[in-house]
Amino acid sequence: MVEKLWDVQRPGRSQVMSAGSRKNLSRRRGLPSRGHWPASMCRMHEATTRLQALSRGIGNLATAAALLAPFPGLGATPTVPVEDVPFITTPDHVTVAMLELAGVGAQDHVIDLGSGDGRIVITAAKRFGASGLGVEIVPDLVAQSRVNARRAGVAARTRFEVQDLYATDLSTASVVTMYLLPEVNLALRPRLLALKPGTRLVSHDWALGDWAPDRTLTVAVPEKTIGREKLSRLHLWTVPAAVQGLWCGPAGATLQLQQRYQVLSALLTQGGLARSYSGRLHGAALELLGEAGARWQATVDGEVLRGGDATATLPWRRAGAAGCG
Ligand SMILES: C[S@@+](CC[C@H](N)C(=O)[O-])C[C@H]1O[C@@H](n2cnc3c(N)ncnc32)[C@H](O)[C@@H]1O
Repeated sequence: MVEKLWDVQRPGRSQVMSAGSRKNLSRRRGLPSRGHWPASMCRMHEATTRLQALSRGIGNLATAAALLAPFPGLGATPTVPVEDVPFITTPDHVTVAMLELAGVGAQDHVIDLGSGDGRIVITAAKRFGASGLGVEIVPDLVAQSRVNARRAGVAARTRFEVQDLYATDLSTASVVTMYLLPEVNLALRPRLLALKPGTRLVSHDWALGDWAPDRTLTVAVPEKTIGREKLSRLHLWTVPAAVQGLWCGPAGATLQLQQRYQVLSALLTQGGLARSYSGRLHGAALELLGEAGARWQATVDGEVLRGGDATATLPWRRAGAAGCG
């Protein structure tokens, strides 16, 4: 039995609330069509599609209200939040597994994108001592999250804002959590990749396209209502430093790095010898492995690499327009 971490107060509306137009979202962001979606996501989408008639009705209301605007008292413009993902909660034991996977601790600031009733941020604060921000497009859910945070005794370390996750400043996060949809994850990917090296990203169920996770964990969820598999997949990425290009080392040495997300291949030219390496980035920590156990390690510090192999540990600098000359 999983410990109840905090008092869940669900708002007085159904779990799946309403949806923005996914077709429009895909068109807007140049994303894959529904034909590419996995089965479980199609079911999530079906649920939202049924509610689109409702949102279209609300759209008509908004049009009518706009037409009536010049006649005060005859019409009022309703505020309609546009949700890119329906409200479905992460179960408590999955929430804990997500935060453990990211290694959340007291020094972390967790931002949950689409924070629902606040459970991920509240658990991060209550159980792991972190601070946190939840951004959520549905005002009722934000109000409820604030109540839940007060009840859990973590109001001082948590903040909940009515905000579009696409407009959220993520620069203060050391951990970003998401339970969204594949297309939304993909649209967020460039911004996630540009975060501070070492920032951890955890996504419930959905990946980040061809950016392979550093770790994936499967958690049993017998009560799951979405999809046939009664389990959740949790994916973890650590944002890698951007190191693609040519680096200049001591005594004319050069290091040419090819980067694909956290995966590296490298050509090191030193003392008239060229050696190939393959390796990885873990945040700002770079490790290259070559033939015969050759190992090259460095820490990325902006435009400087500090480290090397046992024979050369001086700083390496990014090449300028004229190369290393
Ligand atoms: C699947 S729920 C996840 C809720 C919570 N993070 C959890 O794991 O329990 C996704 C949430 O994202 C919210 N959401 C959808 N589109 C959003 C947007 N553009 N900006 C902010 N929140 C959004 C929904 O209202 C919903 O509460």
